[in-house]
Amino acid sequence: MSNKSTSSDARASAATETLQTPSPARKIYPIVKYGDAILEKPGAPVRKFDAELEQLVEDMFASMYAAQGVGLAAPQIGLSVRIAVVDVTAGKNPEAKIVLANPEIVHAEGEVREEEGCLSIPGFRGYVLRPQFVTIKAQNAKGEAFEIRGENLLARAFCHEIDHLNGILFLQHLGMLKRDLIKRKIKKLRKQGEW
Ligand code: NI
Repeated sequence: MSNKSTSSDARASAATETLQTPSPARKIYPIVKYGDAILEKPGAPVRKFDAELEQLVEDMFASMYAAQGVGLAAPQIGLSVRIAVVDVTAGKNPEAKIVLANPEIVHAEGEVREEEGCLSIPGFRGYVLRPQFVTIKAQNAKGEAFEIRGENLLARAFCHEIDHLNGILFLQHLGMLKRDLIKRKIKKLRKQGEW
């Protein structure tokens, strides 16, 4: 999911973070854009929880922060696997980093209609109805099962990323007119070589 604000202090704090805790160089993946079939097919379950997966997860966080997102799912970097990362603090709080392997919604409550965007559909946003609260069951990068409850933006990010793992984009939650308008604009951009 994309961030609402393109805040420069988020970048500044991310830079400070790097200075304070040196970490191995991360691979920044290019983000797959709308139109690529991988975004519209369900991912395969994660079965192997090893060092390679832990690397991938850290690279996904780095790629998400580089793109100024608050969530990133594996299909968005070209991997059709059920894993996503979420951090609604945009890297400001290391404890807010959430890895969702094989996530499932176990409970949802309330409704909030809010504007939402996606790193794979840059430049477009739309109002999507999502639960106000969700409880997710998932595994972390080590394969340990956990449950987490999210509210408002966090609940929205969980739902958006789980949708990605099922091959669903936020466009599918929009009204037909709005969806077709965005699709037409993207088609035009693609013709102009700008997508
Ligand atoms: Ni997205």
